[in-house]
Amino acid sequence: MNQNSLERRSFCRALAGTTAGLAFSRTGWADEDVASVNLSARSEWLNVAGRSLNLYTYERQYPGPAIRIKPGNRVVIKFLNLLTEPTNLHFHGLHIPSTGSADNSFLRIERGQSFTYDFEIPQNHPGGTFWYHPHHHGMAAKQLSRGLAGMIIVRGVLDEIPEIAQAPESLLMLQDFAVNGQGVPTEPGMMERMQGREGALILINGQLNPAFAINRNGWLRLRIVNVSASRFYRLRIEDHMMYQIASDGGALPTVRELDELLLTPGERAEIMVRGEREPGEYRILNLPYDRGRMGMMGMRVAPSSSGPIGSLRYEGEAESEWTLPQSLATVEPLPEPEVRRYFRLDESMMEFTINRRTFDARRTDTSVRLNAIEEWEFDNPTDMDHPMHIHTNPFQVVGTDGRVIPEWKDVTLVKSRARVRVRMRFDDFTGPTLYHCHILDHEDLGMMGRLDILS
Ligand code: C2O
Ligand code: CU
Ligand code: CU
Repeated sequence: MNQNSLERRSFCRALAGTTAGLAFSRTGWADEDVASVNLSARSEWLNVAGRSLNLYTYERQYPGPAIRIKPGNRVVIKFLNLLTEPTNLHFHGLHIPSTGSADNSFLRIERGQSFTYDFEIPQNHPGGTFWYHPHHHGMAAKQLSRGLAGMIIVRGVLDEIPEIAQAPESLLMLQDFAVNGQGVPTEPGMMERMQGREGALILINGQLNPAFAINRNGWLRLRIVNVSASRFYRLRIEDHMMYQIASDGGALPTVRELDELLLTPGERAEIMVRGEREPGEYRILNLPYDRGRMGMMGMRVAPSSSGPIGSLRYEGEAESEWTLPQSLATVEPLPEPEVRRYFRLDESMMEFTINRRTFDARRTDTSVRLNAIEEWEFDNPTDMDHPMHIHTNPFQVVGTDGRVIPEWKDVTLVKSRARVRVRMRFDDFTGPTLYHCHILDHEDLGMMGRLDILS
């Protein structure tokens, strides 16, 4: 069976079992070399989770169309801005140029304007779960939190492992919304922005408590992405272990067994779940997480509430039983760095800084050489957590034993009063790119730097 029919088969199965996959159109997933996608952004009333919400949408749907591509594909996105404010697109996690008509977060697409994004996914691009969202500085949190997000799936090594590829697959886009009784998004006040806005309505794929079908004794693959502006998710599936097979930048070297999964904004995980319990319905729980406090005022970020956000529903019996292979992929640990840098994160009233400076798109904060290997230390002396993200090139986190963890990441949590070191190599592309806190309100308030990769 070829990939495409396998894909189709699991999609049909997903449709039969649950409605949780329905929101995703199949746009862009094809055997052709070019994936053509239309994306228009607009503000409109949309029926979401049984109520009418005033959201920002891509292609009049929420979530935005899922883009499914393969290494070597050319991606052409006809983007049209029908909002009443400027915006743009960022392709979070993709290793493509950060310039021109590719992943250019410096672009400003005015209201009414269109722009054609056109780029190639390198032949050696890792497979994985990525996503796209607006990145117009100052408005990123607002625009994302109103619904502008979609997933990007790149096929890769895991899709060639039969024990993984033959499992049905569901996409889970986690997002919280702050809306009033009329379904209109509430604009956060200054304190909420400094803490990072959170909304009380937590949806998966725009659905309240969706059920995901699983066969008894069968496997289900979940691709999970946290597209929330600020909310952290601590996920647990009642009575079930989670077998993580991939994180931000693709496959893990070996299966990681978890009873709990923390996803900070921007982070992704692919997990396998086995229908190993008595048939029934098991809750997908979001456990509370304390992100700390906004220093000056000493006000705590309200620890996020706990509760079910979805469920796993047993439906039918697996036709055959199998186990997962132990090893999945090779992840070469990056060698010792040639250069080390230090980044201090600070916050005060109205200003969020990296090395004491707020973002300025015209100022280069860090210059590096193409192909260089560097180690960056993020130092967070504040009372609040900051999940740090770097565009264009993924990194490996240095563990407490001083050795790199063999796993490709592009967001890493720097907890309050902690330091984290990440190691990366600046491969293939030169030009300006970005690093920032992925609590997008912090990014909008200045916690972002410009990185220039020089040849
Ligand atoms: Cu998903 Cu620069 O961000
Ligand atoms: Cu990004
Ligand atoms: Cu932050």
